[in-house]
Amino acid sequence: MALFRNLGPFSTTAIGHGEMPLTIENNRGHEVGIETLHASLDAGCRHIDTAWAYYCSGGEEQTGEKLVREALETWKGPKDEVLVATKVGHFRNFTDGRPTWDVDGRPENLIRRGKESALALGVDTIDLLYFHRPDPKVPYNESVEAIKQLVDEGVAQEAGISNASIEQIDIARGILGDKLVAVQNQYSPIHLETQDTLDYCAKVGLAFVCWSPLGGYRHPYDETKFDPFREVAAAHGVSYQQVVLAWELAKGDHMFVIPGAHRPETILDSLKADQLELTPEELAKLG
Ligand SMILES: NC(=O)c1ccc[n+]([C@@H]2O[C@H](COP(=O)([O-])OP(=O)(O)OC[C@H]3O[C@@H](n4cnc5c(N)ncnc54)[C@H](OP(=O)(O)O)[C@@H]3O)[C@@H](O)[C@H]2O)c1
Repeated sequence: MALFRNLGPFSTTAIGHGEMPLTIENNRGHEVGIETLHASLDAGCRHIDTAWAYYCSGGEEQTGEKLVREALETWKGPKDEVLVATKVGHFRNFTDGRPTWDVDGRPENLIRRGKESALALGVDTIDLLYFHRPDPKVPYNESVEAIKQLVDEGVAQEAGISNASIEQIDIARGILGDKLVAVQNQYSPIHLETQDTLDYCAKVGLAFVCWSPLGGYRHPYDETKFDPFREVAAAHGVSYQQVVLAWELAKGDHMFVIPGAHRPETILDSLKADQLELTPEELAKLG
């Protein structure tokens, strides 16, 4: 039985499925995308994370949200149990011929994109809608007010913010009140700089949803940071990725992880991490 935790009003699996690799550059195609989402749903995952901007630069927009919709429509299991979260505020572009992630946090853009997200997902009301990333050109409160408008209009049930500092969390709490339920920030053995927001979320009663919990796959990083996790993994006879996810989940009951995958095998292995019990000694060693 998968580990369930409370994310705002939702009871959902502590391990969600990060959809992004299935529809951005280097994905393995539509069929594998559907197969991978079905594999995680069949294995008991009840939380899917996508975004308006999870499509290939220069290609058709919102392919991530459309893939999630199709996967749920063609899945035979209990769809009502699945929490689907999406985000607005990013879009894809080419800069110097390379795919990039740009931001547009203007209120009118966020409101338009939020409504498009609901349409692409095929829902009247999005379960959880995040403001994807602060736009340096737009005062933070103005972007968050747009998310509040979407909640007030019933386009989204609950709100989240992503890539946010403690100061921004407080601005969003002031505007959204109880409707702010989650902060989605990067956190992993190679990205520990968000520890302050992880601790702050526990203090103020917000879920912390950890993105790229395995360090991501798009940039080279310092592999030696994973060595202690490899040692613990060898003792348990599991992948080191499971140890990383179990270590993150042990940071508190407010912790959620959303590993990504390009194929069923990796997400199915990751979903086993909530059954892995690490000893206090092992957790102390991992930090
Ligand atoms: N809010 C934001 O700004 C933001 C930014 C980035 C990402 N995200 C979210 O976070 C999610 C996860 O991030 P991510 O996809 O960048 O990176 P990630 O989850 O840290 O890492 C994904 C990579 O790890 C590999 N992997 C996963 N589970 C594994 C396992 N058990 N054993 C071996 N390898 C495994 C996958 O391999 P394969 O390629 O072989 O499948 C993939 O290459 C995204 O999908 C997205 O939903 C949010």
